[in-house]
Amino acid sequence: MIPSLSIRLANESDLLFLIQLDALSNPYPWGEGLLEEALQTRQNWVVELGDATQKSIVGWLTASVVLDQSELELIVIDSSVRRQGLARQLMIAWLNASKQQGVNELLLEVRESNVGAIALYESLGFTQVGCRKNYYQTEQGFEAACLFTLSIL
Ligand SMILES: CC(C)(COP(=O)(O)OP(=O)(O)OC[C@H]1O[C@@H](n2cnc3c(N)ncnc32)[C@H](O)[C@@H]1OP(=O)(O)O)[C@@H](O)C(=O)NCCC(=O)NCCS
Repeated sequence: MIPSLSIRLANESDLLFLIQLDALSNPYPWGEGLLEEALQTRQNWVVELGDATQKSIVGWLTASVVLDQSELELIVIDSSVRRQGLARQLMIAWLNASKQQGVNELLLEVRESNVGAIALYESLGFTQVGCRKNYYQTEQGFEAACLFTLSIL
């Protein structure tokens, strides 16, 4: 059971929390520069836990909008609070906000080995529309990027 959960748009004062979340829970951390750029140039939502005296950010979703499409750039949930529906709630916040902005299609790409994320996306109705072979580097070599879309017309 998660106490006092809220999902809200991120702002620049969240940067230090996001740096920590990225470093500890993102398997491929972005680092401070990319995080700062994301806060300045993209749409960002966070999951915040706690009360007025002590809050912490345990989830973050960042997406970019071009015309009537919005593309997920990253979603990450703190490792200690996974499988409690937080990523699903963040994805729904993105989906609802996108609909209100007149976006018609959501896009994302994901490593083919990331079965957890793929299960999350499929559970929300995303379908795979393509594959870029050898797109991501791994410790052993390369792996494919799977492209998914969801029409929200
Ligand atoms: C992928 C990630 C965001 C999921 O976050 P989460 O809060 O644990 O996901 P949710 O609890 O909302 O899961 C919703 C559904 O997605 C699927 N799912 C999520 N993680 C899963 C996993 N590890 N294995 C299998 N299915 C999974 C399940 O269907 C789950 O529903 P259920 O728990 O009722 O079975 C999280 O594991 C994470 O931050 N991973 C590292 C970063 C990353 O890989 N991001 C995605 C690429 S950008």
